[in-house]
Amino acid sequence: MAHLRLWSSFLAVVVMLLSPLAAAQLRTGYYASICPKLEAIVRSSVKQSMAQSPIAGPAALRLFFHDCAVRGCDASIMIVNSNSDDEWRNPDDQSLKPEGFQTILAAKAAVDNDPQCRYKVSCADILALAAREAVSQSGGPYYQVELGRYDGRISTKSSVVLPHVDFNLDQLNAFFSGLGLSQTDMIALSGGHTLGAADCTFFQSRIGTDPSMDSGFATQLRSTCARQSFALLDAATPGGFDNSYFKNLQGGRGLLGSDQVLYTDQRSRGTVNYYASNQDAFFNNFTNAMTKLGRVGVKTAANGEIRRDCRTPN
Ligand code: HEM
Ligand SMILES: *[C@@H]1O[C@H](CO)[C@@H](O)[C@H](O)[C@H]1NC(C)=O
Repeated sequence: MAHLRLWSSFLAVVVMLLSPLAAAQLRTGYYASICPKLEAIVRSSVKQSMAQSPIAGPAALRLFFHDCAVRGCDASIMIVNSNSDDEWRNPDDQSLKPEGFQTILAAKAAVDNDPQCRYKVSCADILALAAREAVSQSGGPYYQVELGRYDGRISTKSSVVLPHVDFNLDQLNAFFSGLGLSQTDMIALSGGHTLGAADCTFFQSRIGTDPSMDSGFATQLRSTCARQSFALLDAATPGGFDNSYFKNLQGGRGLLGSDQVLYTDQRSRGTVNYYASNQDAFFNNFTNAMTKLGRVGVKTAANGEIRRDCRTPN
């Protein structure tokens, strides 16, 4: 028996060494005994942030995506390095709104204000919970969030690789498949653009030149951008999380090139039509895709930490 135990622990070590990227064991009940009020605390803090600013929810949801897509869901996006070499200073992250960061910092402060929870909940998990709150408190689906992520210690400008608004379907698929996400996941997650706004610089070049853009919508955008610097990603229901984003695409009223291409390309149009006609399916697939996104590159106690201040590694 002794040699069997030895052999199996040897095997376990080999497996650990061979798979440094092995998925950490996330689970929904991770903090049940560590910080039992965690979800209620984050819920009420995000609610306050969202009441203070209409940008808070959308910005927090986008922050979660930009965190997970670069170095995994490890809150590396939150790190402020004194030498200025960090993710958020990369041009692709410069349009992240301060309200998103503030929402996470406020939630972290609320969590750490509970003596039982202080310094025991990772910033990465708070980001995942805040993203869920942003969605559900905007009328979107409520879903269980897997927890147990550790925070990373590294953030660099050069590690930032994100999708761009001029990506075609193949480029979008290639990017998301690098995260382990399917085309269906990608289309469902793009439905996150049912919330928030985009700077005119991200779609100006499409106005009057992109045949997939509805001409009435083009006229509308021209006047919007003459008046202000941004337009709503889903003007039909800007603060509401619903499937109108997909209905917009059917009408040529997708704001970004990377939105409208999902309808233009025959290979993804069927899924857009499906979500446009079935909000429950969109919600269900969005929830599944968020859960998969939340598993990307998750850190463990072996290569991460529970950051005390989300802006600085311990
Ligand atoms: C598919 C590739 C994607 C591209 C090319 C893209 C690009 C963009 C761009 C250019 C903006 C406007 C930023 C600004 O001007 O402030 C934006 C906003 C936003 N994105 Fe995406 N995005 C993508 C996927 C996603 C995903 C997967 C999510 C989350 C599930 C997401 C959530 C958001 C949200 C909520 C906003 C509004 C932010 C705000 O109002 O501050 N995006 N995105
Ligand atoms: C999408 O939602 C439909 C309807 O609820 C479900 O049958 C399907 O399995 C979901 N697919 C994914 C990838 O989540």
